[in-house]
Amino acid sequence: MNAPFKAAGLRDPFNAFVCDDDTLELIRVAVGDMGWPIEKCNKGGLRNAVQSLSVSASPNILFVDMSESGDPINDINALAEVCEPGTVVIAAGQVNDVRLYRDLLSSGIQDYLLKPLSVDQVRESLTMAQAMLTAPKHAEMHDDKPHHMMAVVGVRGGVGASLVSTSLAWAMSEQAGRQTALLDLDVHFGTGALTLDLEPGRGLIDAIDNPSRIDGLFIERAMVRASDKLSLLSAEAPIHQPVMTDGSAFFQLEEELRGAFEMTIVDLPRQVLIPFPHLVSEAGTILLVSDVTLAAARDTIRLLSWFKQNVPGARVILVANKFQNAIGELSRKEFESSIERPIDIVIPFDPKLVSQAAKLGKSYAEVCKGTKAAQAWANLTRLVLDGADIEADEAAAASAKGKSGGSLLAKLSLMTKKGAKQGA
Ligand SMILES: Nc1ncnc2c1ncn2[C@@H]1O[C@H](COP(=O)(O)OP(=O)(O)OP(=O)(O)O)[C@@H](O)[C@H]1O
Ligand SMILES: [Mg+2]
Repeated sequence: MNAPFKAAGLRDPFNAFVCDDDTLELIRVAVGDMGWPIEKCNKGGLRNAVQSLSVSASPNILFVDMSESGDPINDINALAEVCEPGTVVIAAGQVNDVRLYRDLLSSGIQDYLLKPLSVDQVRESLTMAQAMLTAPKHAEMHDDKPHHMMAVVGVRGGVGASLVSTSLAWAMSEQAGRQTALLDLDVHFGTGALTLDLEPGRGLIDAIDNPSRIDGLFIERAMVRASDKLSLLSAEAPIHQPVMTDGSAFFQLEEELRGAFEMTIVDLPRQVLIPFPHLVSEAGTILLVSDVTLAAARDTIRLLSWFKQNVPGARVILVANKFQNAIGELSRKEFESSIERPIDIVIPFDPKLVSQAAKLGKSYAEVCKGTKAAQAWANLTRLVLDGADIEADEAAAASAKGKSGGSLLAKLSLMTKKGAKQGA
């Protein structure tokens, strides 16, 4: 929106201005699910929004009910006058007219929801708006294509490392808009292609057989496209054929993917990590996936210590998957105190949506869209992208230092960003 910035200060995450009690009630439920304060949901519709924002700072996300608006486009333009840049606006109304929808989008509205609303619909729109908030910042970086590599490692078999890999690959490509490669190094039993309803092809097997052939052109031909922004390299190698590699094919693939994509997600089985530890030497993020059990606690401790020693520059994110509050083997507190660090992201045990995703041939995160479960994926995506930003900033600062001895301004801005992220 267009208004100049008002007094500096922290923006509210969310404000809503709605016309009726039913909508108010529904918005409060969705906003509560997002973890935002429900007191910021007000009655009064678009007119009240304009009045209120003319004297106070705009929120990050604004929801306006246009049911009582006689001239929606004019009223949205009036809102644009008082709403500061950067605010993502979601509108709702009773007019079902595709021209109005298009006009509203071209006036800068992020989404238009037709009343009567459902909680799922509102939640989905809020999740998308939240993803949008990070998107422009990352879009600015696309010019120089900083690459970020993450390795996803399950601390034990079956904890859900592949589910996390495919879901994150979907979220990174579809929601954060990054050109993403998913490299599934479970050569015999990988499920990356199966999950996304694709044929794995021969690309990975050919790469292992002929590492010297791996170059940009090979990557272009061998990768299987899941969408415009997501490509996959995986295999279903015959069970009687052992993988004959010294690891150079895998390393070479990582190198080539670095040049061709903005984000590489490597689904890295522990059995591959052990003989080829150098595969994580360039990883910016290590995503350790665990369940909350005694055996997983033991192996989380061992792997955390291994990564600390062997890849000290990588940021380790700990995801607890299949979490069951009441009947789990360990409580979250017991698990965290045994591993002596907090879990970063919790993904609940969710057999219903997981099996729905399998039937649809989609990633779990995609099927979560519009449900409460989507929040965990939005949070995980944000966490990884924050790490990628810091890595890119550090690389830029290092190269600036190389050229000019380092600018104080660059260092200060890096420190400020780091401080803000650590405090977040
Ligand atoms: N949050 C969840 N809720 C319910 N089921 C889940 C969840 N996460 C994963 N699963 C299921 O658990 C099984 C194992 O998941 P997945 O294959 O992702 O694990 P993995 O760690 O990659 O296993 P492997 O050690 O074989 O590589 C799958 O059937 C998957 O659908
Ligand atoms: Mg797996």
